[in-house]
Amino acid sequence: MASISDVLLIVNLFLSASVFGFPLHQDIKQTCGYESCHATKPNMLNVHLVPHTHDDVGWLKNVDQYFYGDRNDIQHAGVQYILDSVVDQLLKNPDRRFIYVEMAFFYRWWKQQTPSMRQTVKQLVNEGRLEFINGGWCMSDEATTHYSAVIDQMTIGLRFLNETFGPCGRPRVAWHIDPFGHAREHASMFAQMGYDGFFFGRLDYQDREERKRKKQQEFVWRASESLAPPVADLFTGILPNGYNPPDNFCWDQSCSDSPIRDDPDLEDYNVDDMVMQFIKIAKSQAAVYKSNHIIMTMGSDFQYENANLWYKNMDKLIHYVNAQQKNGSKVNVLYSTPSCYLQELHNANLTWTLKTDDFFPYADDAHDFWTGYFSSRPALKRYERVSNSNLQSCNQLEALVGPGSRNGPFGQGDSDTMRKAMAVAQHHDAVSGTEKQHVANDYAKRLANGWQHCQVLISNSLAALSNSLAQRIYCNNLNISICSVTESSEKFSVNVYNPLARPVNWPVRLPVNGSSYLVSDARGIPVDCEVIRVSRATQEVRRSRGSAVNELVFQMQAPPLGFTTYTVTLLKNLPRPPSPKHHTPAVIQNKFLKVTFDTTTGLLSGLTNLETSQSIKLKQNFYWYNASDGNNSQSNQSSGAYIFRPNSSTPFLISKTAKTETIQTSVVTEVRQWFSPWVSQVVRLYADSRTLELEWTVGPLPIDDDLGKEVITRFDTSINTSQYFYTDSNGREVLQRRTNFRPTWHLRQSEPIAGNYYPINSRAYIKDDVDQLTVVTDRSQGGGSIYNGSLEIMLHRRLLYDDTRGVGEPLNESSSVFPEGLVVRGRLLLSLERPAHAADVHRLVAQQMVLQPLLTFTDGELEPQAKLEFTGLQAVLPPAVHVLTLAQWDTDSVLLRLEHQFQAEEGKMNTQPETVNLQKLFSTLEVVGFSELNLSANQWKDEMKRFNWTLQKDERPLPKKFPDPSQWEVTIRPMEIRTFLLRTSSR
Ligand SMILES: *[C@@H]1O[C@H](CO)[C@@H](O)[C@H](O)[C@H]1NC(C)=O
Ligand SMILES: *[C@@H]1O[C@H](CO)[C@@H](O)[C@H](O)[C@H]1NC(C)=O
Ligand SMILES: [Zn+2]
Repeated sequence: MASISDVLLIVNLFLSASVFGFPLHQDIKQTCGYESCHATKPNMLNVHLVPHTHDDVGWLKNVDQYFYGDRNDIQHAGVQYILDSVVDQLLKNPDRRFIYVEMAFFYRWWKQQTPSMRQTVKQLVNEGRLEFINGGWCMSDEATTHYSAVIDQMTIGLRFLNETFGPCGRPRVAWHIDPFGHAREHASMFAQMGYDGFFFGRLDYQDREERKRKKQQEFVWRASESLAPPVADLFTGILPNGYNPPDNFCWDQSCSDSPIRDDPDLEDYNVDDMVMQFIKIAKSQAAVYKSNHIIMTMGSDFQYENANLWYKNMDKLIHYVNAQQKNGSKVNVLYSTPSCYLQELHNANLTWTLKTDDFFPYADDAHDFWTGYFSSRPALKRYERVSNSNLQSCNQLEALVGPGSRNGPFGQGDSDTMRKAMAVAQHHDAVSGTEKQHVANDYAKRLANGWQHCQVLISNSLAALSNSLAQRIYCNNLNISICSVTESSEKFSVNVYNPLARPVNWPVRLPVNGSSYLVSDARGIPVDCEVIRVSRATQEVRRSRGSAVNELVFQMQAPPLGFTTYTVTLLKNLPRPPSPKHHTPAVIQNKFLKVTFDTTTGLLSGLTNLETSQSIKLKQNFYWYNASDGNNSQSNQSSGAYIFRPNSSTPFLISKTAKTETIQTSVVTEVRQWFSPWVSQVVRLYADSRTLELEWTVGPLPIDDDLGKEVITRFDTSINTSQYFYTDSNGREVLQRRTNFRPTWHLRQSEPIAGNYYPINSRAYIKDDVDQLTVVTDRSQGGGSIYNGSLEIMLHRRLLYDDTRGVGEPLNESSSVFPEGLVVRGRLLLSLERPAHAADVHRLVAQQMVLQPLLTFTDGELEPQAKLEFTGLQAVLPPAVHVLTLAQWDTDSVLLRLEHQFQAEEGKMNTQPETVNLQKLFSTLEVVGFSELNLSANQWKDEMKRFNWTLQKDERPLPKKFPDPSQWEVTIRPMEIRTFLLRTSSR
C-alpha cells in the first residue's frame, strides 16, 4: 500500500515526464550532491537509471580529434556535440540527470562557452542535474600508472572542478568503468581523496560469477595494510553490465534497438512488451545484488551526441514502467546518478564483506587474459615514466624559484603544458599501450612538447639559483650515448639536479670522443672517472643519430632537492681506453656484491651479498613466447595489445650461450652479452652500488617467420619460493601473488602462463626465509613466477594480429629510425637481501629509479660568480620521508605532499612515524602558514567526511587520534601521504 507521500511522488513523476510537454516543477531547490537525489520507494525495487557517456581521452583517435569529432571515418565520436546536446536535453526536463567524468574534455568545452551558457551549466550543476563523477583529467589505467602521476592527474581535474563550480562540483564517487583490472593502490588513493564509493565494470569472469552467486558484487575494499582503517577503506560496487545498458534498451544514435512506440493508433505499439521486458531484466538483476536498489548504466562509448534519442525514450520508460505500480508492480524506475545510488546503499543499513587483495589479472573468458598490456608499447611506457620525473623536477624548481622561473632570461616557460600532457598519458588507453599507433605518437608528441616548456622554466630557474646566464643544453638520449656537447667539447660542465629529498649517488655515463678527462666536483676536487668504449649494441641502437666512440663514467653525488656541478676537461695525449677482453670472467665484484658467471655459456650463475654473506644461484636468460595467431583448437583468441596468449607454455630459448666481452675499471665493471642480433645485455656493477644493473636491448623482433613474439627475461634461482611472489601496486604497497591461485575465489586455471601474469609497476620480488631477490624495473612491465624459484618479466612484444578488443590494429611498432621494428632498451636493478631488511634497500632504489637526477650541460668555462651548489632544503629529512609533490599552486602558495615511503611491517630501519617541521623545510621559501588538504587537494582535511559502512565482521580497531607535536611540526606514519598548502610570503 502506497503512503500519501508515495502517491504525491508518483503524481510528480507523472506530470514532469516530458512525454506530456514542458515540465511542471516550479520550485526547484538549489541543492546538489546527495540532497538533489530523486526520492525512492522503500517497499519497491528501485531502478536507478544513470545516463552517462564514456569518453576515452585518446584511443582510436587522439584526444583533440575526439573532442571535435574529427576523423569520424575512424570512429564516429565528437565530445563537443555530446556536451552541447546533453545540456540542451537536461534543460527540457528537470528530472533528467547526467554524469560527466573526463575533465580533459569538459575543460576544452567549458573554455569555448559563452557567459550565459556557463551560467546555465552552473545552475544544472547546482541543482544536481548535471553531476561530475570521478572528475580527474582522465580515467586512469590501473595496471601501468605510477601513483604519483595518478595523484597529479586527479588533482588537476578536481581543482578545475572546484574552481569552476565550488562544492557542487566536487565528485562523491570514483568511477572506473572501463580499466582492465583494478589495483588496490587506486582504491587506497580514492579513499584518501574523499570519495564515498567506487564503481567499476570489469573483473575476472569467474570472480564475477561467484560474486553474483554470493551477492558480493558490492563490498568494502580495505586497500592498505599500513593505514589505519577506515582511512583506505572504499565502498566498491561492480556494475551489472560492464558500463552498457541492458540488452534491447540502448537508444543512442549508434544503437539499433527499438524506440518505445506508444501511440496505439500507429503500427507496432510496443509499450506493454518493453515494460514487461524491462521489469524482467530488473528483477533478474536484483537477484544478484543485496539491496532493493539496482543501477543501470544508460550509455556507453561516446554516446549522447544526439541526447534527445536517449532522453525521450527514458522519459517514456520511466513513465510506463511506473504506471504499472497502480496494477501492483513493485518496480520503481528513476533518473539517478552513481552517488544517488550509493546513498541508497548506505541508507539501506546492510552489512558488507571485506576485500583486501586486488582485481588482477582480468580475464573475460578462459583464454582471454588481459595481461599483455602490462608490457605493451614498452618505449612509450618508459617515456611516460621519464616524463614524470622531468615534470617533478620542473614543478619543484618552479616552486623553489617562483615567478622568475616562468619568465626569465631564457624566455617564457611553464609546467602546465607538461602537467596536462602527463595527465592525458594516464588514460587507460595511453600508458597502457592499447591505443592505435597514431594515437601513441600523439601522446609522445604531447609529452615532448610539455618537456620543451619545462626546459625553458628549468633553464630560467637554474640561471636564478646559480647566478649564471650560461646556456643550458639538454641531452635526452644519454641512454644511447648521444649528446652533442659532451661529444665535441673540450671543456664543459654538468649540472645535476636531484628531485629527491635525500642526497643520492648516481653513476653517470657521458658520450665522449676523447680518451682521457679530468672531472672535478663543485669544490674543484678531482673525481674518480674512467673512459670506456661505447658498446656495439649502443652503436647499433643509436644508428646515425650519434657517433661518440667512448663513454666517460663517474659517480655523482647530488644534494637533496638541489644541484651540484661537475666540470669536465679533456686531457690530451693519453692512451686510448683499453679494448674489452673477449672472455667471460668467473667473478665480478664490488664491496657489496659478488656476481658469478658460467664461463662456458657466458650467462649469470650466482649472486652474493658480501655484507650479509648470503648467496644464491641465479641463472638468467632470454626467451620468447610464440604469440597465438587466433588459429587454435581451444579458442580463436590471438595475442594483441590487451591480451597475452602464448601458443605454448614453453617459450623458445633465444640462445643457450651469450658471446661476451668484459670491461673492468675502477668505477664500473661491465660484462656485455650478445644473445642474438636482436637481444643483448650489459651486466653492470658500479663500484659504489648495492644493486646489480642489467641493461637490456631488445629488437627489432624478427617477424619474417610470420610468428608474433613476446620476449621475456627469466631468472631461475635457488630461492625456494613455493609458488609465491610479490609485485607492487602502482609503485607503492606490495601484494603477495601465488601461482594458479586467487585469494578470494576458487580459480580454474586455463592459461598457465598468461593467467599467472601480474603488473609489475616498479618492482617484484621472490623470497624464502633467508633470501630475497628484488628486481626494480624502470617502467611498468608484466611478469610472473611460473616455476619454483623463478621470476620472469616481459620486456617487449611484437604481434601480427589484432586481439578483437576494439583497437583494430596488431601491436607491431616501428618508427622512422626503426622501420624494420622498434628497438627498446631498459634497465633492471637486482638486489639480494635478508627478507627482513630488503625493503630498506628496494624502496629507496625504486624511488631513485622513478625520480632521476636531471642533467643539464653548459659548454666552456662557467662564469666566475656562478654558484655551483644549491639545496632547496633547510634541514635534512628523515630517510623514510619522501617529498612526493612540491609545486606552485597560486602566486603565494605551494602544494606539498610528504610521504612516508615504508610499509608498517616491512624492513626494520624505517617503519617508525617521522616528524617534519614545515616552517623550516625549504631554503628559498618563507612559509607563513599552512593548511592540510585531502590527497587530491580539493577539500580541506578537516571538512572531509565520508560514509561509514558496516562490515560483516568488523575488525576495525577504534581509530586513534595522533595529534601533531606542535603548530609547525607534522607527523607522518608508515605509508601515509599528507598534503599541505603552504602559504608563502611574496617574493
Ligand atoms: C541499522 O541496523 C542496526 C542493526 O542491524 C540497527 O540497530 C539500527 O537501528 C539500524 N539503523 C537504521 C538507521 O535503520
Ligand atoms: C575551491 O575553490 C575556491 C574558489 O576558488 C577556493 O576559495 C577554495 O580554497 C578551493 N578549495 C580548496 C580545497 O582548494
Ligand atoms: Zn575506455
